[in-house]
Amino acid sequence: MNSDMTQGVSRRSFLRIVGAASAAATTFPAFASMTPPAAAGQTARRSGTRGMQPLSADTVVISSNENPLGPAQSALTAICSMGAQGGRYHWDEYMKTIDVFNGQFGLKKDYSALFPGSSGPLDLALMSNIGPDKPLVYGDPSYEQGPRAAETMKAPKYPVPLTATYAHDVKAMLKAHPSPGAYYIVNPNNPTGTITPKEDIVWLVNNKPAGSVVIIDEAYTHFSDNESCIDLVPQDKDVIVMRTFSKIYGMAGLRAGFVVARPDLIDRFNNVGGPSQSLASVSISSAAAARASLLDKDLVPLRKKINADIRTESVEFLTKHGYKVIPGSQGNMFMVDVKRPGKQFQSAMLKENVAVGRTWSAMPNYVRVTVGTKSEMAKFQTAFVKCMDMPAGAANGAAELHAPEFHVPSELYRG
Ligand SMILES: Cc1ncc(COP(=O)(O)O)c(C=O)c1O
Repeated sequence: MNSDMTQGVSRRSFLRIVGAASAAATTFPAFASMTPPAAAGQTARRSGTRGMQPLSADTVVISSNENPLGPAQSALTAICSMGAQGGRYHWDEYMKTIDVFNGQFGLKKDYSALFPGSSGPLDLALMSNIGPDKPLVYGDPSYEQGPRAAETMKAPKYPVPLTATYAHDVKAMLKAHPSPGAYYIVNPNNPTGTITPKEDIVWLVNNKPAGSVVIIDEAYTHFSDNESCIDLVPQDKDVIVMRTFSKIYGMAGLRAGFVVARPDLIDRFNNVGGPSQSLASVSISSAAAARASLLDKDLVPLRKKINADIRTESVEFLTKHGYKVIPGSQGNMFMVDVKRPGKQFQSAMLKENVAVGRTWSAMPNYVRVTVGTKSEMAKFQTAFVKCMDMPAGAANGAAELHAPEFHVPSELYRG
C-alpha cells in the first residue's frame, strides 16, 4: 500500500477504510480459504451463469427493484467532473462522502463505512455475527441474502412469518431462539414493501439476548414514511443499519452503500475474510456521485413522490380489475397474486416482453413487481391482463429470465 495515500487521513480511519473495504471485496474469495464446503458451493453456483439469456432491448425490466430514472443529474455531473481525476486514488473524495453522510445523521467518526454497494457489507454484517452455534432469525418472506449467508456460515436458520400486516413479528422473532447471533430485519421489507414500526424494532433491540445484533436493512427506506433506525447507532446499541445508493438514488450499477454501526461491530467484519486481500473500495466517481446525491435536497422527495404516484396507480388498476395485491407497500415494489405458480407467470410475461420479479416460497403464487416508469407500467398492465386471461400452465416451457445465481444482490436473480 502506497503510504502517500494515507496523507490527510487519520491512521485509524485509513485502516478502517482499507480493512472494511478489503473485507467487502473479498467476501466470496475469502470463503475459499475459510470454509471449504461453502467455497465449493459458491464455485458450483457460479457455473449457474451458463445458459443465461439476454433480454431483448425492448423488454420492460421491472424485476429487480432497480430505479428506471438512473442517477440524478447532480450525480451525473459529479461523475463527469471526477472522471478526469480517476488516475489518482483520491482518498479525500472518499472521506468527504463519509463526512457528509456522518454530518447528516449526527454520526461520530468511525461509526460508518462506505462500500461498493450494500450487499458486500450486508454479508459481512451477517457473517461476522452468525455461525453453527449462532443462528440467524429473520422474517419470511423477506430478502434472501439473510438465509443465504446463514447457509454459507452453517448457521441454523429461523424464519419467522410476517404479521397479518406484513410487518416483522418481533415478538415471535424473540421467541424463535434463546441466543441467536443476529436478527435480520428489512424495512421496508423486500418483497412486500411493508413497514415494521420503529417501536417494534426498538423493542426487539432492548429485549434481545446479550451477544446478538439486530441488522436493519434500510435499502428502500427513502421511498417510505418509515422512521430510520440510524439514531440507535450513536446510542451504542447492538444494531447494524444498512443503506444503499442502488434504490432511490438510482446507482445500482455504480455501487455505493453505507454500513452504520458501532466501531467494534464494523471492526468485526475483518474476522470474515483474510487481511491480505486486494482492496476494492468505492471508485472516486461513485463516491462523488453518492455525495452529490446526498447533498441534492430535491432528489429524495421528488423521486419518492414519483414512485408513490405510479405505485398507487398500478395497484389501483390491479385491484379495480379484481386482482389481489399485498396491501401496504411503501417501497418501489409490490406483490401480486397471479393464481398460479409465479415462475410460470413470469415466463408468460416474458413472452410479452415484460420481465417481472421472482416469487418467494412463502407466497408461491405471487410475483414481485418493481415500480417502473408510467409508460413501462402501462405495458405491464396490458401484458398482465393478457397473461392472467391465459389458462394456468399455458406458458410452460417459455423462455425464462436467467441471471448469475452466485451474484450477491438477490435483485439480480431474474429467474
Ligand atoms: C433488501 C436489500 N438489501 C440489500 C440489497 C443490496 O443492494 P446493493 O448491493 O445494490 O446495495 C438489496 C438489493 O436489491 C435489497 O433488496
